Amino acid sequence: MPDVATMEKIVALCKRRGFIFASSEIYGGLGSTYDYGHYGVLLKTNVKNEWWRAMLQERDDIVALDSAILQHPKTWEASGHLAGFTDPMVDCRTCGQRFRADHLGDLQCPQRPSKHPGEATQCDLTEARDFNLMFETTMGPVKDSGATVYLRPETAQGIFVNFKNVLQFSRKKPPFGIAQIGKSFRNEITPGNFVFRTREFEQMEMEFFVPPDEAPRWYEFWRGARRDWYVELGLREDHLRLREHDPDELSHYSSATADVEYLFPIGWSELEGIANRGDFDLTQHAEHSGEKLEYFDPQTKERYVPHVIEPAAGADRATLAFLVDAYDEDELGGEGRTVLKLHPRLAPVKVAVLPHLRKDGLPEAAQEVYAALRRRMQSEYDEGGSIGKRYRRQDEIGTPYCVTIDHQSLEDQTVTLRDRDTLEQERVAIDGLPDELAARLARPWRSPKVAAQA
Ligand code: GAP
Repeated sequence: MPDVATMEKIVALCKRRGFIFASSEIYGGLGSTYDYGHYGVLLKTNVKNEWWRAMLQERDDIVALDSAILQHPKTWEASGHLAGFTDPMVDCRTCGQRFRADHLGDLQCPQRPSKHPGEATQCDLTEARDFNLMFETTMGPVKDSGATVYLRPETAQGIFVNFKNVLQFSRKKPPFGIAQIGKSFRNEITPGNFVFRTREFEQMEMEFFVPPDEAPRWYEFWRGARRDWYVELGLREDHLRLREHDPDELSHYSSATADVEYLFPIGWSELEGIANRGDFDLTQHAEHSGEKLEYFDPQTKERYVPHVIEPAAGADRATLAFLVDAYDEDELGGEGRTVLKLHPRLAPVKVAVLPHLRKDGLPEAAQEVYAALRRRMQSEYDEGGSIGKRYRRQDEIGTPYCVTIDHQSLEDQTVTLRDRDTLEQERVAIDGLPDELAARLARPWRSPKVAAQA
Protein backbone atom coordinates (compact mmCIF):
# COMPACT_ATOMS: atom_id res chain seq x y z
CA MET A 1 0.00 0.00 0.00
CA PRO A 2 1.51 3.42 -0.87
CA ASP A 3 2.39 5.65 2.07
CA VAL A 4 -0.29 8.30 2.63
CA ALA A 5 2.19 10.82 4.03
CA THR A 6 3.23 13.58 1.65
CA MET A 7 5.30 16.61 2.50
CA GLU A 8 2.29 18.86 1.78
CA LYS A 9 0.11 16.94 4.28
CA ILE A 10 2.84 17.09 6.94
CA VAL A 11 3.32 20.84 6.45
CA ALA A 12 -0.46 21.40 6.62
CA LEU A 13 -0.86 19.29 9.78
CA CYS A 14 2.10 21.02 11.43
CA LYS A 15 0.52 24.41 10.82
CA ARG A 16 -3.05 23.34 11.67
CA ARG A 17 -2.07 21.76 14.98
CA GLY A 18 0.63 24.25 15.96
CA PHE A 19 3.74 22.08 15.58
CA ILE A 20 5.77 24.23 13.16
CA PHE A 21 5.17 27.58 11.45
CA ALA A 22 7.09 29.49 8.77
CA SER A 23 9.17 32.06 10.62
CA SER A 24 8.30 35.79 10.39
CA GLU A 25 5.11 34.81 8.58
CA ILE A 26 3.39 38.16 9.12
CA TYR A 27 6.24 39.77 7.15
CA GLY A 28 6.00 37.23 4.35
CA GLY A 29 8.40 34.68 5.87
CA LEU A 30 12.19 34.56 5.85
CA GLY A 31 13.94 32.17 3.45
CA SER A 32 13.46 28.74 4.97
CA THR A 33 13.49 29.42 8.69
CA TYR A 34 10.84 27.90 10.94
CA ASP A 35 9.36 28.46 14.38
CA TYR A 36 8.21 25.58 16.58
CA GLY A 37 4.85 25.92 18.29
CA HIS A 38 3.71 24.21 21.51
CA TYR A 39 3.40 20.62 20.23
CA GLY A 40 6.47 21.02 18.02
CA VAL A 41 8.54 22.09 21.03
CA LEU A 42 7.27 19.13 23.07
CA LEU A 43 7.97 16.67 20.23
CA LYS A 44 11.46 17.98 19.38
CA THR A 45 12.32 18.12 23.10
CA ASN A 46 11.33 14.45 23.41
CA VAL A 47 13.54 13.59 20.40
CA LYS A 48 16.48 15.42 21.98
CA ASN A 49 15.84 13.85 25.38
CA GLU A 50 15.85 10.39 23.80
CA TRP A 51 19.23 11.23 22.24
CA TRP A 52 20.58 12.40 25.61
CA ARG A 53 19.19 9.23 27.21
CA ALA A 54 21.03 7.04 24.65
CA MET A 55 24.25 9.04 25.00
CA LEU A 56 24.38 9.83 28.73
CA GLN A 57 21.89 7.84 30.78
CA GLU A 58 22.43 4.47 29.12
CA ARG A 59 26.24 4.77 28.89
CA ASP A 60 28.99 5.77 31.27
CA ASP A 61 31.66 6.65 28.71
CA ILE A 62 30.11 9.87 27.33
CA VAL A 63 29.91 13.33 28.92
CA ALA A 64 27.86 16.38 27.94
CA LEU A 65 28.96 19.77 26.67
CA ASP A 66 27.24 23.01 25.69
CA SER A 67 29.75 25.17 23.83
CA ALA A 68 29.27 28.71 22.50
CA ILE A 69 27.84 29.38 19.05
CA LEU A 70 30.41 32.14 18.47
CA GLN A 71 33.93 30.77 18.58
CA HIS A 72 37.39 32.19 17.89
CA PRO A 73 37.69 32.63 14.09
CA LYS A 74 40.84 30.50 14.15
CA THR A 75 38.58 27.53 14.95
CA TRP A 76 37.24 27.69 11.40
CA GLU A 77 40.66 28.17 9.89
CA ALA A 78 41.86 25.02 11.65
CA SER A 79 38.77 22.97 10.85
CA GLY A 80 39.01 23.82 7.15
CA HIS A 81 35.60 25.55 7.06
CA LEU A 82 37.00 28.98 6.07
CA ALA A 83 38.78 27.59 3.05
CA GLY A 84 36.63 24.65 2.11
CA PHE A 85 33.06 24.78 3.48
CA THR A 86 31.67 25.79 0.12
CA ASP A 87 29.06 24.71 -2.37
CA PRO A 88 29.32 25.47 -6.09
CA MET A 89 26.74 28.09 -7.04
CA VAL A 90 25.38 29.50 -10.28
CA ASP A 91 23.16 32.56 -10.85
CA CYS A 92 20.59 32.91 -13.60
CA ARG A 93 20.90 36.34 -15.26
CA THR A 94 17.31 36.06 -16.54
CA CYS A 95 15.34 35.24 -13.37
CA GLY A 96 17.91 36.45 -10.83
CA GLN A 97 17.70 33.16 -8.85
CA ARG A 98 20.67 31.29 -7.39
CA PHE A 99 21.10 27.49 -7.62
CA ARG A 100 23.46 24.77 -6.36
CA ALA A 101 25.45 23.91 -9.47
CA ASP A 102 25.65 20.25 -8.42
CA HIS A 103 21.87 19.98 -7.81
CA LEU A 104 20.55 21.48 -11.06
CA GLY A 105 19.03 18.15 -12.09
CA ASP A 106 16.87 18.10 -8.91
CA LEU A 107 15.71 21.72 -9.16
CA GLN A 108 12.97 23.50 -11.12
CA CYS A 109 13.43 26.55 -13.32
CA PRO A 110 11.27 29.22 -11.57
CA GLN A 111 9.94 30.43 -14.94
CA ARG A 112 9.48 27.00 -16.61
CA PRO A 113 8.91 24.58 -13.71
CA SER A 114 8.79 21.57 -16.06
CA LYS A 115 12.47 22.24 -16.88
CA HIS A 116 15.62 22.26 -14.77
CA PRO A 117 17.53 25.55 -14.39
CA GLY A 118 19.62 26.09 -17.51
CA GLU A 119 17.37 23.99 -19.74
CA ALA A 120 14.80 26.55 -20.91
CA THR A 121 15.79 28.75 -23.84
CA GLN A 122 15.59 31.94 -21.77
CA CYS A 123 17.88 30.58 -18.98
CA ASP A 124 21.24 32.32 -18.79
CA LEU A 125 23.43 30.73 -16.11
CA THR A 126 26.76 32.12 -14.91
CA GLU A 127 29.84 29.93 -14.51
CA ALA A 128 29.83 27.96 -11.22
CA ARG A 129 31.73 29.60 -8.36
CA ASP A 130 32.38 28.58 -4.77
CA PHE A 131 30.15 30.04 -2.10
CA ASN A 132 31.11 29.74 1.60
CA LEU A 133 28.15 28.56 3.67
CA MET A 134 29.20 30.18 6.94
CA PHE A 135 27.22 33.20 8.19
CA GLU A 136 29.49 36.08 9.10
CA THR A 137 28.80 38.64 11.80
CA THR A 138 30.74 41.28 13.70
CA MET A 139 31.80 41.03 17.32
CA GLY A 140 31.79 44.21 19.39
CA PRO A 141 30.86 47.75 18.40
CA VAL A 142 33.68 48.32 15.87
CA LYS A 143 33.07 46.94 12.41
CA ASP A 144 36.58 46.21 11.18
CA SER A 145 38.07 43.09 9.68
CA GLY A 146 39.51 41.92 13.02
CA ALA A 147 35.99 41.72 14.48
CA THR A 148 34.58 39.19 11.99
CA VAL A 149 33.23 36.03 13.63
CA TYR A 150 31.07 33.21 12.29
CA LEU A 151 27.92 31.50 13.45
CA ARG A 152 29.05 27.89 13.89
CA PRO A 153 28.15 25.65 10.92
CA GLU A 154 28.42 22.52 13.11
CA THR A 155 28.53 21.83 16.84
CA ALA A 156 31.45 19.40 16.45
CA GLN A 157 34.25 21.99 16.53
CA GLY A 158 33.12 23.26 19.95
CA ILE A 159 33.80 19.74 21.19
CA PHE A 160 37.28 19.46 19.66
CA VAL A 161 38.44 22.81 21.07
CA ASN A 162 37.28 21.65 24.54
CA PHE A 163 39.01 18.25 24.34
CA LYS A 164 41.73 19.25 26.82
CA ASN A 165 39.27 20.76 29.31
CA VAL A 166 37.04 17.70 29.29
CA LEU A 167 39.95 15.26 29.51
CA GLN A 168 41.25 17.11 32.55
CA PHE A 169 37.98 17.41 34.45
CA SER A 170 35.92 14.36 33.47
CA ARG A 171 38.38 11.65 34.62
CA LYS A 172 37.76 9.83 31.32
CA LYS A 173 40.24 8.12 29.07
CA PRO A 174 39.84 6.90 25.48
CA PRO A 175 37.54 5.38 24.45
CA PHE A 176 35.21 8.14 25.64
CA GLY A 177 32.81 10.60 24.02
CA ILE A 178 31.66 14.20 24.31
CA ALA A 179 28.07 14.89 23.29
CA GLN A 180 26.42 18.18 22.43
CA ILE A 181 23.07 19.45 21.16
CA GLY A 182 22.79 22.94 19.78
CA LYS A 183 21.99 25.32 16.96
CA SER A 184 24.08 25.43 13.81
CA PHE A 185 23.82 27.81 10.87
CA ARG A 186 24.53 27.31 7.18
CA ASN A 187 23.76 29.79 4.44
CA GLU A 188 22.41 26.97 2.24
CA ILE A 189 22.01 28.01 -1.41
CA THR A 190 18.93 25.89 -1.92
CA PRO A 191 17.24 25.13 1.38
CA GLY A 192 13.88 23.44 1.20
CA ASN A 193 11.58 20.53 1.89
CA PHE A 194 10.24 22.09 5.06
CA VAL A 195 12.60 21.54 8.02
CA PHE A 196 14.70 18.99 6.10
CA ARG A 197 17.21 21.60 4.93
CA THR A 198 17.11 25.00 6.62
CA ARG A 199 19.62 27.75 7.31
CA GLU A 200 19.25 27.54 11.10
CA PHE A 201 18.88 24.07 12.61
CA GLU A 202 19.74 21.98 15.63
CA GLN A 203 22.38 19.28 15.61
CA MET A 204 22.93 16.37 17.99
CA GLU A 205 26.60 15.44 17.66
CA MET A 206 28.90 13.17 19.61
CA GLU A 207 32.65 12.90 19.14
CA PHE A 208 33.98 9.56 20.38
CA PHE A 209 37.74 9.62 21.04
CA VAL A 210 39.44 6.24 20.70
CA PRO A 211 42.94 4.71 20.55
CA PRO A 212 43.86 4.74 16.82
CA ASP A 213 43.88 0.96 16.41
CA GLU A 214 40.32 0.74 17.83
CA ALA A 215 38.81 3.23 15.35
CA PRO A 216 37.50 0.68 12.77
CA ARG A 217 35.76 -1.33 15.51
CA TRP A 218 34.07 1.75 17.04
CA TYR A 219 33.05 3.00 13.59
CA GLU A 220 31.19 -0.29 13.05
CA PHE A 221 29.69 -0.07 16.53
CA TRP A 222 28.30 3.46 16.12
CA ARG A 223 26.94 2.78 12.60
CA GLY A 224 24.79 0.01 14.06
CA ALA A 225 23.92 1.74 17.33
CA ARG A 226 22.68 4.89 15.63
CA ARG A 227 20.51 3.01 13.14
CA ASP A 228 19.04 0.98 16.02
CA TRP A 229 18.16 4.19 17.90
CA TYR A 230 15.71 5.18 15.16
CA VAL A 231 14.24 1.66 15.05
CA GLU A 232 13.75 1.61 18.81
CA LEU A 233 11.87 4.90 18.54
CA GLY A 234 9.50 3.39 16.04
CA LEU A 235 10.76 4.24 12.54
CA ARG A 236 9.82 1.41 10.19
CA GLU A 237 12.87 -0.69 9.34
CA ASP A 238 11.96 -0.90 5.67
CA HIS A 239 12.09 2.92 5.57
CA LEU A 240 15.62 3.03 7.02
CA ARG A 241 18.95 2.07 5.54
CA LEU A 242 22.66 2.56 6.09
CA ARG A 243 24.53 3.80 3.04
CA GLU A 244 28.31 3.72 2.94
CA HIS A 245 29.87 6.72 1.14
CA ASP A 246 31.85 6.08 -2.03
CA PRO A 247 35.50 7.22 -1.76
CA ASP A 248 34.82 10.30 -3.96
CA GLU A 249 31.97 11.41 -1.64
CA LEU A 250 34.09 11.44 1.54
CA SER A 251 34.78 14.77 3.29
CA HIS A 252 38.42 15.86 3.42
CA TYR A 253 38.69 14.69 7.06
CA SER A 254 36.99 11.30 6.75
CA SER A 255 38.37 7.87 5.92
CA ALA A 256 34.91 6.27 6.14
CA THR A 257 31.37 7.65 6.42
CA ALA A 258 27.98 5.99 6.45
CA ASP A 259 24.65 7.78 6.33
CA VAL A 260 21.54 6.60 8.10
CA GLU A 261 18.96 7.34 5.42
CA TYR A 262 15.19 7.50 5.71
CA LEU A 263 12.68 7.10 2.91
CA PHE A 264 11.12 10.60 3.09
CA PRO A 265 8.35 11.54 0.64
CA ILE A 266 11.19 13.23 -1.32
CA GLY A 267 13.04 9.88 -1.58
CA TRP A 268 15.90 8.31 0.36
CA SER A 269 17.71 11.13 2.18
CA GLU A 270 20.30 11.53 4.93
CA LEU A 271 19.09 11.55 8.51
CA GLU A 272 22.46 11.26 10.19
CA GLY A 273 26.10 10.70 9.24
CA ILE A 274 28.58 8.48 11.07
CA ALA A 275 32.18 9.34 10.18
CA ASN A 276 35.63 8.07 11.01
CA ARG A 277 37.42 11.44 11.26
CA GLY A 278 40.81 9.97 12.23
CA ASP A 279 43.08 12.43 14.07
CA PHE A 280 42.33 15.28 11.63
CA ASP A 281 40.55 17.65 14.02
CA LEU A 282 42.75 17.32 17.10
CA THR A 283 45.90 17.60 14.98
CA GLN A 284 44.60 20.69 13.18
CA HIS A 285 43.56 22.45 16.39
CA ALA A 286 46.86 21.52 18.05
CA GLU A 287 48.77 23.07 15.12
CA HIS A 288 46.70 26.25 15.02
CA SER A 289 46.49 26.81 18.80
CA GLY A 290 49.90 25.57 19.91
CA GLU A 291 48.19 23.41 22.59
CA LYS A 292 48.98 19.69 22.83
CA LEU A 293 45.75 17.80 22.17
CA GLU A 294 46.71 14.24 22.95
CA TYR A 295 46.33 11.54 25.55
CA PHE A 296 49.08 10.17 27.75
CA ASP A 297 48.42 6.60 28.81
CA PRO A 298 49.98 6.21 32.28
CA GLN A 299 49.98 2.40 31.97
CA THR A 300 51.77 2.00 28.63
CA LYS A 301 53.60 5.37 28.99
CA GLU A 302 52.48 6.08 25.44
CA ARG A 303 51.35 9.46 24.15
CA TYR A 304 48.98 9.54 21.20
CA VAL A 305 46.40 11.68 19.38
CA PRO A 306 43.06 9.85 19.70
CA HIS A 307 41.06 9.12 16.58
CA VAL A 308 37.46 10.25 16.40
CA ILE A 309 34.26 8.47 15.44
CA GLU A 310 31.42 10.95 14.99
CA PRO A 311 27.69 10.23 14.85
CA ALA A 312 26.19 13.57 13.68
CA ALA A 313 22.41 13.87 13.62
CA GLY A 314 19.92 16.68 13.04
CA ALA A 315 17.18 17.25 15.62
CA ASP A 316 14.86 18.92 13.10
CA ARG A 317 15.44 16.31 10.43
CA ALA A 318 14.86 13.48 12.91
CA THR A 319 11.67 15.20 14.11
CA LEU A 320 10.49 15.42 10.49
CA ALA A 321 11.22 11.73 9.94
CA PHE A 322 9.24 10.77 13.07
CA LEU A 323 6.33 12.93 11.89
CA VAL A 324 6.36 11.43 8.39
CA ASP A 325 6.61 7.88 9.69
CA ALA A 326 3.77 8.45 12.17
CA TYR A 327 1.36 10.18 9.80
CA ASP A 328 -1.60 7.99 8.91
CA GLU A 329 -5.17 8.27 7.68
CA ASP A 330 -7.94 5.79 8.37
CA GLU A 331 -11.68 5.65 8.75
CA LEU A 332 -13.59 5.72 11.97
CA GLY A 333 -17.39 5.50 12.22
CA GLY A 334 -17.67 6.37 8.52
CA GLU A 335 -15.48 9.47 8.92
CA GLY A 336 -11.88 10.04 7.89
CA ARG A 337 -9.33 10.28 10.69
CA THR A 338 -5.82 11.75 10.54
CA VAL A 339 -3.61 10.30 13.22
CA LEU A 340 0.03 10.56 14.26
CA LYS A 341 1.08 7.09 15.35
CA LEU A 342 4.12 8.37 17.21
CA HIS A 343 6.11 6.24 19.62
CA PRO A 344 4.49 7.02 23.00
CA ARG A 345 7.87 8.19 24.33
CA LEU A 346 7.99 10.82 21.59
CA ALA A 347 4.34 11.88 21.66
CA PRO A 348 4.04 15.54 22.74
CA VAL A 349 1.13 14.77 25.07
CA LYS A 350 0.88 11.36 26.74
CA VAL A 351 -2.71 11.49 27.93
CA ALA A 352 -5.75 13.71 27.45
CA VAL A 353 -8.44 13.89 30.11
CA LEU A 354 -11.93 14.47 28.73
CA PRO A 355 -15.16 14.84 30.73
CA HIS A 356 -17.95 13.27 28.70
CA LEU A 357 -20.25 16.23 29.36
CA ARG A 358 -19.74 19.75 30.64
CA LYS A 359 -22.19 19.26 33.51
CA ASP A 360 -23.33 16.94 36.33
CA GLY A 361 -19.99 17.28 38.17
CA LEU A 362 -18.08 15.54 35.37
CA PRO A 363 -15.64 18.46 34.70
CA GLU A 364 -14.81 18.65 38.43
CA ALA A 365 -14.15 14.88 38.61
CA ALA A 366 -12.07 15.07 35.40
CA GLN A 367 -10.01 17.95 36.81
CA GLU A 368 -9.08 15.76 39.78
CA VAL A 369 -7.92 12.96 37.50
CA TYR A 370 -6.00 15.50 35.41
CA ALA A 371 -4.28 16.95 38.50
CA ALA A 372 -3.06 13.47 39.49
CA LEU A 373 -1.83 12.61 35.98
CA ARG A 374 -0.02 15.86 35.16
CA ARG A 375 2.29 15.32 38.12
CA ARG A 376 3.60 12.20 36.36
CA MET A 377 3.44 12.97 32.62
CA GLN A 378 2.62 15.61 29.99
CA SER A 379 -1.17 15.69 30.11
CA GLU A 380 -3.91 17.82 28.65
CA TYR A 381 -7.44 18.65 29.80
CA ASP A 382 -10.10 19.32 27.16
CA GLU A 383 -13.83 19.85 27.66
CA GLY A 384 -14.60 21.77 24.42
CA GLY A 385 -16.69 20.18 21.65
CA SER A 386 -18.17 16.73 21.12
CA ILE A 387 -16.25 13.75 22.48
CA GLY A 388 -15.63 12.56 18.89
CA LYS A 389 -14.08 15.91 17.95
CA ARG A 390 -11.89 15.88 21.03
CA TYR A 391 -10.63 12.35 20.21
CA ARG A 392 -9.84 13.50 16.65
CA ARG A 393 -7.88 16.50 17.96
CA GLN A 394 -5.78 14.25 20.21
CA ASP A 395 -5.27 11.71 17.38
CA GLU A 396 -3.89 14.48 15.17
CA ILE A 397 -1.26 15.46 17.71
CA GLY A 398 -0.42 11.82 18.42
CA THR A 399 -1.69 11.49 22.01
CA PRO A 400 -1.47 7.74 22.75
CA TYR A 401 -4.17 7.67 25.46
CA CYS A 402 -7.43 9.45 26.18
CA VAL A 403 -9.23 9.14 29.50
CA THR A 404 -12.97 9.83 29.54
CA ILE A 405 -14.91 10.59 32.70
CA ASP A 406 -18.64 9.77 32.53
CA HIS A 407 -21.55 9.25 34.92
CA GLN A 408 -20.36 5.74 35.75
CA SER A 409 -17.04 7.26 36.89
CA LEU A 410 -18.89 9.10 39.68
CA GLU A 411 -20.46 5.84 40.83
CA ASP A 412 -17.63 3.31 40.63
CA GLN A 413 -14.48 5.47 40.41
CA THR A 414 -13.46 4.08 37.03
CA VAL A 415 -12.72 5.82 33.72
CA THR A 416 -12.61 4.77 30.07
CA LEU A 417 -9.08 4.44 28.71
CA ARG A 418 -8.87 4.71 24.91
CA ASP A 419 -5.83 3.53 22.98
CA ARG A 420 -4.96 5.69 19.94
CA ASP A 421 -3.55 2.78 17.90
CA THR A 422 -5.93 -0.11 18.64
CA LEU A 423 -8.94 2.12 19.43
CA GLU A 424 -9.73 -0.32 22.24
CA GLN A 425 -11.53 1.18 25.21
CA GLU A 426 -11.45 -0.37 28.65
CA ARG A 427 -12.51 0.65 32.12
CA VAL A 428 -9.70 1.32 34.55
CA ALA A 429 -9.82 2.29 38.23
CA ILE A 430 -8.97 5.97 38.83
CA ASP A 431 -6.73 4.96 41.74
CA GLY A 432 -4.38 2.90 39.60
CA LEU A 433 -4.54 5.13 36.51
CA PRO A 434 -1.18 6.98 36.83
CA ASP A 435 0.71 3.70 37.39
CA GLU A 436 -1.20 1.92 34.63
CA LEU A 437 -0.38 4.67 32.12
CA ALA A 438 3.27 4.90 33.19
CA ALA A 439 3.60 1.12 32.66
CA ARG A 440 1.98 1.30 29.22
CA LEU A 441 4.19 4.21 28.15
CA ALA A 442 7.33 2.29 29.15
CA ARG A 443 6.49 -0.78 27.04
CA PRO A 444 8.34 -1.48 23.78
CA TRP A 445 6.33 -0.11 20.89
CA ARG A 446 6.19 -0.94 17.19
CA SER A 447 4.54 1.13 14.46
CA PRO A 448 1.02 -0.19 13.78
CA LYS A 449 1.77 0.67 10.14
CA VAL A 450 4.11 -2.36 10.10
CA ALA A 451 1.36 -4.70 11.30
CA ALA A 452 -1.03 -3.18 8.74
CA GLN A 453 1.47 -3.88 5.94
CA ALA A 454 2.09 -7.50 7.03
N1 GAP B 1 29.97 17.46 12.09
C1 GAP B 1 29.57 16.77 10.91
C2 GAP B 1 28.40 17.37 10.29
O1 GAP B 1 27.98 18.47 10.61
P1 GAP B 1 26.63 16.98 8.41
O2 GAP B 1 26.30 15.73 7.65
O3 GAP B 1 26.95 18.20 7.62
O4 GAP B 1 27.84 16.57 9.36
C3 GAP B 1 24.99 16.33 10.35
O5 GAP B 1 25.45 17.30 9.42
C4 GAP B 1 23.48 16.31 10.37
O6 GAP B 1 22.96 17.63 10.62
C5 GAP B 1 22.83 15.89 9.04
O7 GAP B 1 22.78 14.49 8.92
C6 GAP B 1 21.44 16.50 9.18
O8 GAP B 1 20.61 15.66 9.98
C7 GAP B 1 21.72 17.79 9.95
N2 GAP B 1 21.82 18.91 9.00
C8 GAP B 1 22.88 19.30 8.27
N3 GAP B 1 22.59 20.37 7.52
C9 GAP B 1 21.29 20.67 7.76
C10 GAP B 1 20.38 21.69 7.30
N4 GAP B 1 20.78 22.64 6.43
N5 GAP B 1 19.11 21.68 7.77
C11 GAP B 1 18.70 20.76 8.66
N6 GAP B 1 19.52 19.78 9.14
C12 GAP B 1 20.79 19.74 8.71
